[in-house]
Amino acid sequence: MKRVILITGSNKGIGFETAKQLGKLGHHIIMSARNENKLEQAVNKLRLEKSEVDGLLMDISDEKSIDRATSEFAKRNIKIDVLINNAAIMYHEDKSMLQENNEILINTLTTNSIGSLRVIKAFLPYMKSKSRIINMSSGGGSMTDSVGGWAPAYCVSKTLLNAITRQLSSELLSENISVNAVCPGWVRTDMGGASASRGVEKGAETPVWLATEASQELTGKFFRDKKLIPW
Ligand SMILES: NC(=O)c1ccc[n+]([C@@H]2O[C@H](COP(=O)([O-])OP(=O)(O)OC[C@H]3O[C@@H](n4cnc5c(N)ncnc54)[C@H](OP(=O)(O)O)[C@@H]3O)[C@@H](O)[C@H]2O)c1
Repeated sequence: MKRVILITGSNKGIGFETAKQLGKLGHHIIMSARNENKLEQAVNKLRLEKSEVDGLLMDISDEKSIDRATSEFAKRNIKIDVLINNAAIMYHEDKSMLQENNEILINTLTTNSIGSLRVIKAFLPYMKSKSRIINMSSGGGSMTDSVGGWAPAYCVSKTLLNAITRQLSSELLSENISVNAVCPGWVRTDMGGASASRGVEKGAETPVWLATEASQELTGKFFRDKKLIPW
């Protein structure tokens, strides 16, 4: 079944690779990014591969930009089957919760957690029944794994995104919209760095699976490598 799939922050990294893999499978991909030039380049790359791709400019940290994106999307007269909340930031300076200024935490939460929630709320009217929401989270957001040593504000933002995932999965049960979170593992991207253990192909594997083959009944869960992991 051909699906319409919106992916935030898909001009590079895991988001781009997810768009690439889903495009190759024949789905209609709406690539979204905050920078017009980068978006155009990414869309053109996948069009060269004969994928059905459109672009949608959206800065998920800016409510006005999300509003503009939904207004633009409304004109297209299509409905979304899958929304992948992939866009996120991690500051290099994010090293110590006690020592760093509050701006780092506030900006990180505004993008990674509140931004993703705002995108979901804004695009819900354009989502089909039995559609899917996939939140790109991180093992860093886990309340079970050991804590410490890296990017505390980023990790807290993913814990909040996980909590949002659980709450929305419950609220959207009656509408048959599934909401799940994914940890892609440690992936070689601008965010993950060159020493990371995985390539983007592996990082995109679980969001691609959740967007396509995974059962619609799976909701309110946290996955890595297509397997359940504890919150
Ligand atoms: N790489 C890893 O090891 C790893 C591990 C666990 C989880 N993750 C998660 O996987 C997802 C993808 O990460 P990645 O490694 O591919 O990161 P990346 O290479 O840094 O890509 C992040 C993407 O998000 C976009 N973005 C950032 N802020 C945005 C905003 N306000 N509005 C719209 N787009 C925005 C970036 O756009 P610009 O190009 O304009 O900056 C870029 O397209 C993220 O949610 C990340 O937290 C990654």
